[in-house]
Amino acid sequence: MHFEFTEVVLERPRRLDHCHVIVCGNEKGGSGKSTTAMHVAVGLLRLGFRVATVDLDTRQRSLTRYNEYRRRWMERTGKQIETSAHYQLQHEAAALYEADESRTTLAFEKVLDDWREIYDFIIIDTPGSYTKLSTAAHRQADTLVTPVNDSFMDFDVLANINPETLEIEGLAQYAASVRDARRFRQTQGEGILDWIVLRNRMASISSRNERRVDECLRDLSMRLGFRFANGIAERVVFRESFFKGLTALDETEETTGGAKLSMSHLTARNEVRSLITAMRLPIDDLGLKRAATRKRWLSQERPVIKVPDIFAD
Ligand SMILES: Nc1ncnc2c1ncn2[C@@H]1O[C@H](COP(=O)(O)OP(=O)(O)OP(=O)(O)O)[C@@H](O)[C@H]1O
Ligand SMILES: [Mg+2]
Repeated sequence: MHFEFTEVVLERPRRLDHCHVIVCGNEKGGSGKSTTAMHVAVGLLRLGFRVATVDLDTRQRSLTRYNEYRRRWMERTGKQIETSAHYQLQHEAAALYEADESRTTLAFEKVLDDWREIYDFIIIDTPGSYTKLSTAAHRQADTLVTPVNDSFMDFDVLANINPETLEIEGLAQYAASVRDARRFRQTQGEGILDWIVLRNRMASISSRNERRVDECLRDLSMRLGFRFANGIAERVVFRESFFKGLTALDETEETTGGAKLSMSHLTARNEVRSLITAMRLPIDDLGLKRAATRKRWLSQERPVIKVPDIFAD
């Protein structure tokens, strides 16, 4: 498959014996997928894991550009910071893969199997619209992170909501593709897809509208089968650090040339840490136990268990 590879800067040994795939996905553009991907990647790197980042968005290339800025920062300052091995889907190849779904799925599964041998975590950033390759990536996700902004407009991709009563009237397009990815994993006897919907760009003061958004999300989480967690707040630091190739996590007095970090910066850092904790990844004793149970379960010969869809249309 046609990926451009940028080598990892700080080599470290592998820590997990079973690679964990995280997909950042939402067919709604600008919801915070790439921002989440870069922060989670740096968070896991700083915990000592071997991380690969994969950019399937050949138009925006946000994760790739961020990676380039990060390397440029290192060249400029002569300092080294933890950096993921990065794979970028080549633009010319994207159309090729869109033309043939079964070929795309097979080729992507194969390349992912190779990467699984090398990395503890693979973080895949997907474009803000439907593509076949993005669908193939969703099927491979152990954890799917879907950032949404605090707005009913953002829920449109999850469910059709009655504007007057806020009743959920049906499954919307993106939630239907997550359901299909779950069905696919079930037929393949693969592990459960843990779907987390994150509230991104939360406002610091909660308004009546946000409380309604919150209630609606809770309701949706039970109907669509996702876990619902707080993501990061709306902060300048999350936007600014992109061009520096840094994140709130690796901006320290050393990386900022001795400048003291602001309160907002320190809070931002804690928000990212809480977000990673909320993802329940195999990064601590509890998470590792969960992963070991999952691995045992996956290695057993067993019939595919048929469970009904959480949300049937
Ligand atoms: N918590 C935040 N605080 C401030 N700005 C944010 C935050 N999250 C995202 N942004 C900004 O919002 C814009 C969209 O974010 P991002 O690129 O991560 O979304 P995306 O879902 O990857 O978009 P696309 O669908 O176009 O790929 C960017 O300019 C980003 O810097
Ligand atoms: Mg993006």
